[in-house]
Amino acid sequence: MNIAIDGPAGAGKSTIAKLVAKKLGYIYVDTGAMYRSIALYMIENGISQDDDTNIASACNKISIRIAYEDDTQHVYLNNEDVSVKIRMEKVGNMASVFAAKKAVRDKLLSLQRDIAAQNDCIMDGRDIGTHVLPNAELKIYLTASVDTRAMRRYKELVEKGQDANLEQIKEDIKQRDYQDMNREIAPLKQAEDAVLLDSSNMTIDEVVAAICEKVIG
Ligand code: DC
Repeated sequence: MNIAIDGPAGAGKSTIAKLVAKKLGYIYVDTGAMYRSIALYMIENGISQDDDTNIASACNKISIRIAYEDDTQHVYLNNEDVSVKIRMEKVGNMASVFAAKKAVRDKLLSLQRDIAAQNDCIMDGRDIGTHVLPNAELKIYLTASVDTRAMRRYKELVEKGQDANLEQIKEDIKQRDYQDMNREIAPLKQAEDAVLLDSSNMTIDEVVAAICEKVIG
């Protein structure tokens, strides 16, 4: 059984998917973490977003491995656990840029399909229902307004004691939406057979319950 959850940045996909996975006994697969790991490699190795040749050859040198430790997904980039590093704001923004590259998408597609073939999983990303797992038993398109998503992110950063500028966060979200929805290969869009959930006015528990109900009735 595979559940696909797609939607824009900050819609709450990972929070929701983790809880649903726990309730149903599935594994949670965060595909954004894989794109973030590739972006981290490009940043650390000074590879420019315009340099398609070096991006393609870097993809041949990169190994991405997913492991589950204490029920949590860890991502290994060439055997280094990068699970914490990839959460930086800059890495997320660059992940959106490098995710538009064919070499990068090709590299991750088979890894994602292999994991889904071997496990009951709930996988989140941008193109899971439309491209990675077109035959997923359940597809969810989880969204929320830009203002809601920006405010959630702002509060998250403030709670962690980090600097946060609401207007800047809003601009970053809009840019990321534009890039993810308008790229040529596998852009973010709702699959025709996906269930639309707008979490702007829903609690986390309500969204989780709505998804579990679709699986177990
Ligand atoms: O979900 P996230 O914010 O961690 O994802 C980071 C970026 O990776 C996102 O802006 C676009 C890209 N991505 C993608 O293109 N396809 C996916 N399935 C998952 C993420």
